[in-house]
Amino acid sequence: MKKPDKKQTALPDLELREGQSLELLKALHILTREGKINQDSRRKLKQVNHLLQFIGPLLQSALAQNGGVCLVDHGAGKSYLGFMLYDAFLKKPDLQGQVVGIESRAELVERSHALAQQLGFKGMAFHHLTVAQALESEEIPAAVDIVTALHACNTATDDAIEFGLRRQCAAFVLVPCCQAEVAAQLRAGKNNMRATSSLTELWRHPLHTREFGSQVTNVLRCLRLEASGYEVTVTELVGWEHSMKNELIIAKKTPSAAGKKATQAAQKLNELLQSLGLEAMAPRFAPAN
Ligand SMILES: C[S@@+](CC[C@H](N)C(=O)[O-])C[C@H]1O[C@@H](n2cnc3c(N)ncnc32)[C@H](O)[C@@H]1O
Repeated sequence: MKKPDKKQTALPDLELREGQSLELLKALHILTREGKINQDSRRKLKQVNHLLQFIGPLLQSALAQNGGVCLVDHGAGKSYLGFMLYDAFLKKPDLQGQVVGIESRAELVERSHALAQQLGFKGMAFHHLTVAQALESEEIPAAVDIVTALHACNTATDDAIEFGLRRQCAAFVLVPCCQAEVAAQLRAGKNNMRATSSLTELWRHPLHTREFGSQVTNVLRCLRLEASGYEVTVTELVGWEHSMKNELIIAKKTPSAAGKKATQAAQKLNELLQSLGLEAMAPRFAPAN
């Protein structure tokens, strides 16, 4: 007799959103065909459902204001986020909703494209591009309301921010992954600064270089967004038990975040780059003009 798989559990203890399509969850292989789920998929479902709470109102506000909405998801992977957003908020035929996935792995792009066709999700499109290539691509709509990047690797989050700033999008929802550039720059400048600044103690040990580099990167990203006229909130995606990378950055363009506030944020951004010997990183974190 086949042994039961202990890691899989049945549906009742799943935290599903009201009206969430079980068929979609099966198509995304989050649920097995029998409606069971393993720990990894449970974590993913919890993360995406948590994000839906934040992104849903942003989609609805853009729809109400503009009569349509375009969301671009960077480093989309299997596009769990895009599919669940579309299913929850945009699949009604009278809605002008577009969800565009940018992904550097061709097989994932093809798979998502096939699934969108199978489900009849006509407003979904997927592009085999890096986020940096998407910046210049004419395939992507010019008007974009919301930019998301969920665990997009290394500097892909920064490129996604650049993408959204160039298109003056209304909101960003970002869950950054590790970024190696800032840590490398801190490492390179360590010995030069040590004689003059006790601040370098914050990143003297290699483990601290990595962790501090990651923290500083996200602080610089937030300042970049604030300096570009966005109101920024930083919170947790899900409990620490699920992922070490769970910082959720939400930025909304608001008139009250422009002007003096943006100027002050730009000053702080420059000061921080200078204090940490990161002047070479200024173009990476440059605010929108
Ligand atoms: C950790 S996965 C996250 C996938 C998805 N966002 C999620 O959370 O389920 C990162 C994805 O980003 C893609 N990726 C990494 N760097 C990229 C880049 N520069 N441009 C586009 N996609 C990228 C990878 O191929 C991978 O599918």
